[in-house]
Amino acid sequence: MNEHHRPMTMSERADALEEEKMHEMERILTRSTFAYLTDGKREMDTSPPLQAKYPGHYFNMGADPRLPPMPEKPTLVDYFRHRFASTAHLLQSAAHALKTGQPEKVVMACLVHDIAIVSFIRCDHGYWGAQMIEPYVDEEISWAVRTHQALRFFPDESVGYGYPDLYKSLFGPDYEPEPYIVEEYKRARAHKWYMTSRLICMNDIYAFDPNAKVNLDDFVDIIGRNFRQPKEGLGFDNSPSAHMWRTILWPTRFL
Ligand SMILES: [Fe+2]
Ligand SMILES: [Fe+2]
Repeated sequence: MNEHHRPMTMSERADALEEEKMHEMERILTRSTFAYLTDGKREMDTSPPLQAKYPGHYFNMGADPRLPPMPEKPTLVDYFRHRFASTAHLLQSAAHALKTGQPEKVVMACLVHDIAIVSFIRCDHGYWGAQMIEPYVDEEISWAVRTHQALRFFPDESVGYGYPDLYKSLFGPDYEPEPYIVEEYKRARAHKWYMTSRLICMNDIYAFDPNAKVNLDDFVDIIGRNFRQPKEGLGFDNSPSAHMWRTILWPTRFL
């Protein structure tokens, strides 16, 4: 068959569409090197070839026009509504904690326990998520978010928590956590806030119901009492994690 008349494959068509969109846009949007790594490629967007491809265009140094606009001074609730890919699991686990009368701190911890996964990154999501919220919440909440990642793998029969069936189906029956996770578990097990983190794990198993009705509005007051929203906007307050929020806000800024 003549190469020039070969029908485009799905991925070629997607590429062509993407390129067409790019030409319409004022600014050149780039992918972070990490996005390539997650595609299994050691590759990066560099300026000369991209500028040659889109002559007369500058690189994006602000909002990504493909994403929902965010207010000038965004709040955690704005990130929930306009950046997080999915909030059902977070809301369901928090709703379960609330319904069963657990302390508000636990409800808040459940509400944010997987924010790294839904907005940023999977690997070591407990650590990333804890770092994102650390300047704004009680130390106990960020500690519990950090350690829930490890605790999820270890049963505690005294509270009726077994190794999750879900993990058997996700990782195979023989999966064993890495040594750093085992160490984290041991430290957490001996910690005074152990039960807060364990409760995140326990509420988690009730939080995979695709039909459960949950609403962020039910948690806005709890967020207000447990998350110190910076007046400058989340991302612009010069906290140790403000840059992480800015990156989620503007994921395609060139620098
Ligand atoms: Fe998690
Ligand atoms: Fe979870």
